Amino acid sequence: MSIHKEVKRITTHILQEMKNRGEKISMLTAYDYSMASIVDEAGIDVILVGDSASNVMAGHETTLPITLDQMIYHASSVVRAAKRALVIVDLPFGSYQGNSKEALNSAIRIMKESGAHGIKIEGGIEIAESVTRILTAGIPVMGHLGLTPQSIYKFGTYTVRAKQEAEAQKLREDALKLQELGCFSIVLEKIPAALAKEVSESLSIPTIGIGAGKHCDGQVLVIHDMLGINKGFSPRFLRKYADLHTVMNNAIENFVKDVKDKTFPNDKEEY
Ligand code: KIV
Repeated sequence: MSIHKEVKRITTHILQEMKNRGEKISMLTAYDYSMASIVDEAGIDVILVGDSASNVMAGHETTLPITLDQMIYHASSVVRAAKRALVIVDLPFGSYQGNSKEALNSAIRIMKESGAHGIKIEGGIEIAESVTRILTAGIPVMGHLGLTPQSIYKFGTYTVRAKQEAEAQKLREDALKLQELGCFSIVLEKIPAALAKEVSESLSIPTIGIGAGKHCDGQVLVIHDMLGINKGFSPRFLRKYADLHTVMNNAIENFVKDVKDKTFPNDKEEY
């Protein structure tokens, strides 16, 4: 029997137990109440209120513009829906890079104002002081290494990271550091599968991969991508579990047609 089926509320300790037992962790993003209700009911382990909301909810090109207030708004909607999943919220760009006190204040605001269960933060050794300070306040922290989208203008492209040995070595050291500091898990984004395997096996805490191969301890996808809502986004790592773009488009076209044809509403659909 998987732990996943037995528990009423997923905690960071349960994720650790899953890794210890070899049970994979499932994580999806959600940003609003209705979507989070469906995701939670379907049995997901972790809901990530990702700063990808900046792209998929607000239509920005990058994750940089989304604000702390906007993240808190999305997170509080998701928390109201999540009866069983652990809810983790991204610290957005500009809310933690200044200094560790600012990072702690941002994390506290997320926890206090949204009711979430922990935060995710991008970066390695360079944000160690902030991670420590947040953890000292009793806030669970998930790390994020590899392709960290808040650094897109430093990277220049969204291609696979850590293919060169120097960057791979830095990632190994960052992962170990985040574990030593007390992070409960680390997201590994778009790195070679062999490196993700090595890191996942060397850490005692769970890794959650996106475009990082099958050896991570869990997998995460952006909900709009895996449901096929974003038509034009088809990177190699993405498996589309539905074609909601077509389903929704057909439904809306039919509605427009029925209104124009004067067949909606009919006699049974009025008072
Ligand atoms: O913001 C996000 O959705 C993320 C995932 C892609 C891991 O950070």
